[in-house]
Amino acid sequence: MNIAFFSAQKYEQPFFNAHNLANHTLRFFSEPLNTLTAKLAEDCQVVCAFVNDDLSAEVLATLSALNVKLVTLRCAGFNNVDLAAANSLGLPITRVPAYSPEAVAEHCIALMLTLSRKTHKAYNRVKEGNFDLNGLLGFNLHNKTVGVIGTGKIGQALCRILSGFGANVLAYDPAPSIETLNYVPLDLLLTQSDIISLHCPLTPETHHLIDDAAYEKMKKGVMLINTSRGALVDTRATIAALKSKTLGYLGLDVYEQESELFFKDMSEEIIQDDEFQRLLTFPNVLITGHQGFFTQEALQEIAHITHQNIEQLVQNQPFTNQVLP
Ligand code: NAI
Repeated sequence: MNIAFFSAQKYEQPFFNAHNLANHTLRFFSEPLNTLTAKLAEDCQVVCAFVNDDLSAEVLATLSALNVKLVTLRCAGFNNVDLAAANSLGLPITRVPAYSPEAVAEHCIALMLTLSRKTHKAYNRVKEGNFDLNGLLGFNLHNKTVGVIGTGKIGQALCRILSGFGANVLAYDPAPSIETLNYVPLDLLLTQSDIISLHCPLTPETHHLIDDAAYEKMKKGVMLINTSRGALVDTRATIAALKSKTLGYLGLDVYEQESELFFKDMSEEIIQDDEFQRLLTFPNVLITGHQGFFTQEALQEIAHITHQNIEQLVQNQPFTNQVLP
């Protein structure tokens, strides 16, 4: 089979090649999938897409007309897919539901500790021979109240790590599943937490879950961590909350308009997104470019499960990891 990988990056190709036991022809396109690039999938039976690829009705219809038999996402989230359109075209969509929840949970901890202990600033100071501690005062995670919104695979992994720090974990999930967690209503979590971390999917209900009204409920100086999907957080309201000092620390691995920026080198470009640029000016904001998943263990598992999803097409077996509308 010929398999078209869109938004393909150099670092992931060795993992997909190593797991290509069936010797398929893997075509790696650096271009993102969209209405203009979809035709690159000509002669391909499978399309492998990533988080910011466009899987709208129009793109799916083009892929279907090209005789693509499967779209397999090499990620967990599927908010970029028009599932109803895929269903009516009879085009199955599969994903990698869990590759390493710990990878993302550990990245959350990296963001929390970096923001709290300011190790990114200390690194630069010491490099320049500046050993002054003024401005580097941090706080302990021990005994802090951490609110975890969404207790699926990643949220649970984070709760496990946080308990090791001796933090007091509050959880919110419309479908509570873990007996040992202290589930509370969302408003209570927002008012009580010193740190809030988002681990729910992006849906119409969770779009701008963190908005002006949510910030109004939070403790002054709260830390917010978002490693889930950018649009869970209203960027305009976030900038206002940073200016008013309601938000004391912000750690983002995802951003509302990240598809224009992330996964490419923009260092020679003039970035046009004024809200993103404003976020970067705050001394208490730390942004990483959607790298929560980016560990060796996770890439191995993504490649393994993706090839397994493709094998189920080859063998005409039911898809274990199909996403349905
Ligand atoms: P999951 O499906 O295991 O868990 C999601 C949880 O959110 C479920 O327990 C669900 O009941 C809950 N939920 C649904 N609606 C909610 C709401 N309105 N409020 C609170 N909770 C709600 O998903 P998993 O694997 O834990 O991933 C979470 C999110 O992390 C994904 O949707 C994805 O967007 C993001 N992600 C980010 C990565 C990164 O590299 N930064 C990598 C992988 C996933």
